Amino acid sequence: MAEHTGDCFLVPGPVRMNQRCLDAMATPVITARGPEFRDVMAELNSGLRYAFNLAPSKPEKKTQSWAGDDDYKVMAVSGSGTAAMEMIIANRFRSNDLVLVPTNGKFGERVAEMCKRFCNVKHIKYEWGRAFDLYELEQQLERKCYEALLICHNETSSGITQDAPAIAEMCHRNQTSFILDGITSIGGLPVDLDGWNVEAAAMGAQKCTAGPSGIAAIAFNSRFYERCKAIKEQEDVNALFYLDFISAFKKGDDDQTPWTPAINLAMGWAQALNILKDEGLENRWQRCQELSTGVQNLFLDLGFELLADISQRSATVTAIMYPDGIDDNWRSDLKNKFETQVIGAQDHLKGKMFRIGSMGETTKEEMIEGCRRMLECFKQHGHDLADVDVASYF
Ligand SMILES: Cc1ncc(COP(=O)(O)O)c(C=O)c1O
Repeated sequence: MAEHTGDCFLVPGPVRMNQRCLDAMATPVITARGPEFRDVMAELNSGLRYAFNLAPSKPEKKTQSWAGDDDYKVMAVSGSGTAAMEMIIANRFRSNDLVLVPTNGKFGERVAEMCKRFCNVKHIKYEWGRAFDLYELEQQLERKCYEALLICHNETSSGITQDAPAIAEMCHRNQTSFILDGITSIGGLPVDLDGWNVEAAAMGAQKCTAGPSGIAAIAFNSRFYERCKAIKEQEDVNALFYLDFISAFKKGDDDQTPWTPAINLAMGWAQALNILKDEGLENRWQRCQELSTGVQNLFLDLGFELLADISQRSATVTAIMYPDGIDDNWRSDLKNKFETQVIGAQDHLKGKMFRIGSMGETTKEEMIEGCRRMLECFKQHGHDLADVDVASYF
């Protein structure tokens, strides 16, 4: 196996971009309203449908590239993943709707916080990294008072992937809409919007699809569209303008956007999605899974503690507790002395934990080299570690 040289960039997004994506962004500017941009949008839409694991569409303008042979459409959003989630939530709910949001980390909590701006929320807060109590969620849904259940599918802050198929089934049984923040799951691990009857989901370019930061997308079904349309027609829509879903929807058939789009970011993302198509979606899921399994087994064997419950550890991010006596100075040394970057923890776990991303186009070689450097840096910080063959874990 070839050795990785140079720096190791192992953060759970933004991830490193491929040269093809960078080159595409360096294209001289085009207008937002001409045929050239419609070509870009069509290519992007087709790539988005692929990443969302939806039925295919042609990467050609005037062919309804945002739609396919299923009940879903995709829509690019100029803004980061948060804008895409806000577009879903702000347009879909009325101020007197009630939604259920179970959480076990920072980004789920942010979904709940965002919902509070636009509707009523029952927020069930589990400890970071602990799986949801599905029995409790089912009891809530049986009350039949919730317009929707929203989850952060892959909780980047705590390294846990929710049991989406089980939650989807519960939502279906109780006729409750199911909505996903798929920002670090879509493109990186198995997602089945159609099979799970997901009404809408958001993804961010800079995560599992290795695109540029500042552009995101949503996928939604006809029920989502009908609800948003009815709310708008009844003039009951939340206060928003830039993220008005219906304004954007009206432009979709024409491969257009209501406002000036992030033109060059769209060009770059379309190429990153072509690279995903070249690799194959299931191959990427598998690579992410193999990288994360290797990381998890390696650190567990060396006596480290992982934050997430064993049954639901994420394939795209692993959260590892620091051993006694180590803090974030380790991470600074890892960056400065070993040219290797991982990310720290958020909120109450700051300084107590670090997170390794295994998403985007990260290679096995880079992960092996990065892990070797991490172990060496731990040794330099006085943490005794057994000598192990890191490559054998991958
Ligand atoms: C699961 C999840 N949701 C939402 C966000 C926020 O996305 P963005 O920073 O692209 O707005 C992130 C970012 O790390 C995330 O990991």
